[in-house]
Amino acid sequence: MKRLLKGGRVVSPADGIDGTCDVLIDGERIARVGRDLPADGAVVVEVPAGLVVCPGFIDMHVHLREPGQEHKETVATGTAAAVAGGFTAVACMPNTSPVNDDANVTAYILAKAAAANLARVYPIGAVSRGSKGELLADIAELKQAGCVAITDDGHPVATALLLRRALEYARMFDMPVIEHCEDPSLKGDGVAHEGYYAAQLGLRGIPGAAEALGAERGVLLAEATGSAFHVAHMSARASLRAVRKGKDAGIRVTCEVAPHHFTLTDESLATPIAYDTNTKMNPPLREAADRDAMVAGIADGTVDAIATDHAPHHYDEKKVEFDRAPFGIVGLETAVPLSLDRLVHTGVIRLPRLVELLSVNPARILRVPGGSLAGGAAADITIIAPDLRVRIEASRMRSRSKNTPFDGWELRGGVAATLVGGRPLFVNPDVPLRLD
Ligand code: DOR
Ligand code: ZN
Repeated sequence: MKRLLKGGRVVSPADGIDGTCDVLIDGERIARVGRDLPADGAVVVEVPAGLVVCPGFIDMHVHLREPGQEHKETVATGTAAAVAGGFTAVACMPNTSPVNDDANVTAYILAKAAAANLARVYPIGAVSRGSKGELLADIAELKQAGCVAITDDGHPVATALLLRRALEYARMFDMPVIEHCEDPSLKGDGVAHEGYYAAQLGLRGIPGAAEALGAERGVLLAEATGSAFHVAHMSARASLRAVRKGKDAGIRVTCEVAPHHFTLTDESLATPIAYDTNTKMNPPLREAADRDAMVAGIADGTVDAIATDHAPHHYDEKKVEFDRAPFGIVGLETAVPLSLDRLVHTGVIRLPRLVELLSVNPARILRVPGGSLAGGAAADITIIAPDLRVRIEASRMRSRSKNTPFDGWELRGGVAATLVGGRPLFVNPDVPLRLD
């Protein structure tokens, strides 16, 4: 079937488009984008003024938990959360059980994704077998099975030598190495950012330097190998400095920031609720100067992508002493409202830059399709409602886990609809848009 999205503001920086345009979808693909396109037998969808049609958003850092931890999330529930959050594709981390370190696990994840038939899923393979940091995984096999990158996320790659080898192999297969930057000796058994609030609450600290050392190491080895190195969930201002320095030197380094790291600070450890385990994630919420540096990096172009680090954990696992709780929060269904409220409505960035951060650059870094509305591209489209008043309600999330510090937050900006391969998989009932 053909569908004509008529009259919305279309923002697609990769195609040089920002203005009122029509988008003609033919089956699974974009047919054309232009002004006053004829209906030509298509079902006409009037896009109300104020809505913005964008290339589909891609979350390049998601923990789908399947296989092995289906009580937290499954590929089906995670991709349902993705489309409800405006994401047409997600890249999923290999720290499942078993770890995604061979073609069978990758094939299993892809089979679950095909069965769910919601957001597209791009598996990320492990750097090392079992992510144990001893032997390299079979990176050629992972690539052939469909992995788009490698990482030992949850932990840093254990040694500089192993990271060097991973970068060398990944380069042969045109994949980036995504690094959870962390010096293990400085992280120790820390649970919160080392600073005023950790001291006040008696929590063991993780200094920003733990992350920055990992970022510096990776940038050095990216330079030595000529390979692509990507800093995951960046939180510390010294890491940003390392990335900026690397980029200035022409080194192939990219980085992502999660919405919680550009929104919150370690003050959330103490208030409004002290020791709330939904403020515990790794890397931790940092002090204001770090949060402000992430915002500045987003504004000046140093930061390439917004990625959620969606890390679902079961209620019972989080409902323990702060010290003993697992690290991580869900992010798929809060990222777009937080980005619009905190970055666009504050004037930090404009919508074309948001589309770069959420669509163009994740596609470019992972070398996957997307980020464009050019004729012939898959019709993966996110329609946003920048002025919609949104109230975050954890209990209504599609994700199987509800571990978010943003429950009850009221934000300006939300998702109007998500189309994957031309199919409307999410339409927000609070927006006057009819897609069926
Ligand atoms: O907060 C986090 N949660 N950080 C990580 O690196 C891993 C993740 C998880 O898997 O729960
Ligand atoms: Zn991580």
